Amino acid sequence: MPGGVLTGWGSAVPPTVVTNADLERRLDTSDRWIVERSGIRERRVGGTVGTLAAEAGRQALQRAALAPRDVDLLVLATATPDLAVPATSARVHHELGLSGAAFDVNAACAGFVYALAAAYGALATAAARRVLVIGADCLSRLTDPDDRATAVLFADGAGAVVLEATAGDDSLLALDMGTDGSAYDLLTCPHGGYLAMEGREVFRRAVRVTVESATAALARAGMTPADVSLFVPHQANLRIIEAAASRLGIPMARTAIVLDRTGNTSCASIPLALAEAAHQRRLAPGDRVLLSGFGAGMAWATAVVRWDADARP
Ligand code: ACO
Repeated sequence: MPGGVLTGWGSAVPPTVVTNADLERRLDTSDRWIVERSGIRERRVGGTVGTLAAEAGRQALQRAALAPRDVDLLVLATATPDLAVPATSARVHHELGLSGAAFDVNAACAGFVYALAAAYGALATAAARRVLVIGADCLSRLTDPDDRATAVLFADGAGAVVLEATAGDDSLLALDMGTDGSAYDLLTCPHGGYLAMEGREVFRRAVRVTVESATAALARAGMTPADVSLFVPHQANLRIIEAAASRLGIPMARTAIVLDRTGNTSCASIPLALAEAAHQRRLAPGDRVLLSGFGAGMAWATAVVRWDADARP
């Protein structure tokens, strides 16, 4: 069966930085509370999903040395589309001058790994040969600026990878996906409203599903945590990541962290962390990377992939 390899990566965040000190000035909160409870120190706010996604996608295509017309599928993971209709991927398709098909995926913060799964599926069935996968969100748009429980957490950004068909071994080594719809109302945002979340319960479930899903995916790949070169979890809360990494037996030195500077960027968080790791040369060809996301739904997804992209700065 045909497979795919990762050949490019990119990321984009808006220029406006909002620090914890900025939030202290307008909310009943403190830098100390935010850092201790979440690990977040600052976040980026602004832009649109379309513009951030296009910038991350442009970088990924450049690194893969592909022209826009070479792309025959764009999969955009987002929980915050710019418009209800059409899909934001259509806007990105136009902005980048892509060829081929485009669609959005909404699986909340698990969306990027769901989008990767769709992309690998398209390669496996030969429906596409070059796929641009983007995770992008502008969660600040759905966050009540006066609600200290959510305003300190959520922010904006985008990350992207390119997958290309290969005659060699598939770089997708294992996949685990799931949804627990009974937890549907733990994290919601009605049309025209703001995000509301039962933080403690989401926290508890997030640690559990991340550990269970990562364990299942590693078993399917025939790997142990010691074989993981880099763990790239969804960046929601440092305490969730530390608890999950510790239970999995993966040291924090092999865990990617960007949330201290980005906040929770939902679908963008995993590809943003992956892009930073590549940029910092923490990834080498052949490395085994564990990508794991969870979010509203509750939905979760884990992929074990082999890193093939030539990590150029
Ligand atoms: N500053 C100061 N105090 C605050 C703040 C704030 N920003 N926010 C809440 N508090 C208060 C609460 O009111 C509460 O006060 P009380 O004890 O007097 O009632 C106290 O701090 C403790 O609140 P908790 O909610 O119990 O704090 P917790 O330690 O659970 O941390 C947090 C809250 C950070 C939200 C945590 O529960 C969490 O990260 N949960 C997971 C959230 C998550 O991952 N969401 C994203 C899912 S992905 C997606 O789909 C978008």
